[in-house]
Amino acid sequence: AKPIGIGMIGCGTVGGGVATLLREQAALYEQRIGRPIELRRVLVRDVEKACRGGEVGRSLVTADAEAFFDTPDVSVVVEVAGGRGVVSDYVRRSLKAGKHVVTANKALLAAEGAELFDLARRHHAAIAFEASCAGGIPCITALKFGLMANRIDGLYGILNGTCNFILTAMSQAGRAYDDVLNEAQEKGYAEADPTLDVSGKDAAQKLAILASLAFGVAVPEDAVGCIGIDNLDLADIRFGAELGYDMKLLAIAERKPGESAVSVGVQPCFIHKHELLAKVEGAFNALSVFGHAVGHTLYYGPGAGRMPTASAVVSDVLNVAAGWYPCAFADMHLTPDRNAAADLVPS
Ligand code: NAP
Ligand code: HSE
Repeated sequence: AKPIGIGMIGCGTVGGGVATLLREQAALYEQRIGRPIELRRVLVRDVEKACRGGEVGRSLVTADAEAFFDTPDVSVVVEVAGGRGVVSDYVRRSLKAGKHVVTANKALLAAEGAELFDLARRHHAAIAFEASCAGGIPCITALKFGLMANRIDGLYGILNGTCNFILTAMSQAGRAYDDVLNEAQEKGYAEADPTLDVSGKDAAQKLAILASLAFGVAVPEDAVGCIGIDNLDLADIRFGAELGYDMKLLAIAERKPGESAVSVGVQPCFIHKHELLAKVEGAFNALSVFGHAVGHTLYYGPGAGRMPTASAVVSDVLNVAAGWYPCAFADMHLTPDRNAAADLVPS
C-alpha cells in the first residue's frame, strides 16, 4: 500500500521521540492501520542541533520552510516546535493546503484554537491535539469520545509535570526550588521558557483547552485565574506537611448544573495525604472528570517527557492517517461563534 507521508515541524525533546517511535515501530504501525507511515521532511531552525541526537537522518532535515512545504506527498503535518508567531503561520499554511495537523502546542491552541479549528473545518482537515494536555494521558480522547454521552459538570487535576516534579522533590527530599527546576529542564519536562510552567500559565492553557471541550464553549486562556508555584518556599510546604497535607498545583473548571457560568482557575492547593491526587508524584499528571451519567472518573499517567508525549503524538498521527479521526468532529467545541455561550467566572 502507498505510504502516508508525514512532515514534522520541530525536532527537540518531543520531535526526537516521535521520529524514534515512527522508525522503531514502523512494522507494528503498518500492521495496525494497513499502510506504512513515512517521515518525509523535518523543519527546524538549527539543522546540526536537530541531527545531534541521531533520531532523524541528516537528509530529512531542513531549515528552509519553502523546501519543507514543497515536499511532495505529505498529508499529515506534526507540529512539535511550540510557541506561536511563525509556528502559527506554518500550522495555518498546512491546514489551508488541506493537510491534517497533529500538535502538542497548548499555547497555540489556547490562544488561537477557535480560528484554527474554523480554518481546519473550511479546508476539510483535522487538528489532533492529544499531546497538548497531560502528556501521555489520553484525556482528550476520553473527553471527546469516551465521555460523549455525558454532560460534564466539572474537572480538576494536576496538569503540569514540571510543577509537580518540583513540589514532590521539595516536599519529599527538602530540595531547593531552583535546583529541582534545573533538573526538570534537563529531563525535558519544562517548556522552552520555564516561566510558563512555574507561573501556572502552561496549566492554564491546558485547562482552557479541556474546559472548552468539556463545556462546549470557547474558554480563552486569559479567562483562567492563575497563581503559580514561583512564589512558594519550602516553609509553605513543610507547614502543610506537618498538618498532613501535600501541596499540589491544581487546575479546576466547573459549571453548576442548570447554570451557564463556567469557573476556571489554577492555583497551589493543600490536599490531604490520603487523597488520590496527593499520591501523584514527580512529572506525573492526573485529571478527574465528573460526568452526569458516569460519575467520577480519573485519568493518571506521565504528564511530560519525551516518550510519553511522543506516545500521544504518534497515536494521533495513526488515527488521523487511518481516517479514524473525524475532521468535522475536531472543531465542534472550539468554534468562535460558541464564545458567546460562555459566561466565564475566573476562580
Ligand atoms: P524543544 O525541545 O525546545 O524542541 C523544539 C523544537 O522545535 C526544536 O527542534 C526547535 O528547533 C524547533 N523549533 C522551534 N521553533 C521553530 C521554528 N520557528 N521553526 C522551526 N523549528 C522550530 O521543545 P519540546 O519540549 O519538544 O516541546 C515541543 C512542543 O511540545 C511544545 O509545544 C511543548 O509545549 C509541547 N509539549 C512538550 C512536552 C514535553 O514534555 N517536553 C509535553 C507535552 C507537550 P531549533 O532547536 O533549531 O530552534
Ligand atoms: N512543560 C509541560 C509540563 C510539558 O511540565 O507539564 C507537558 O505539557
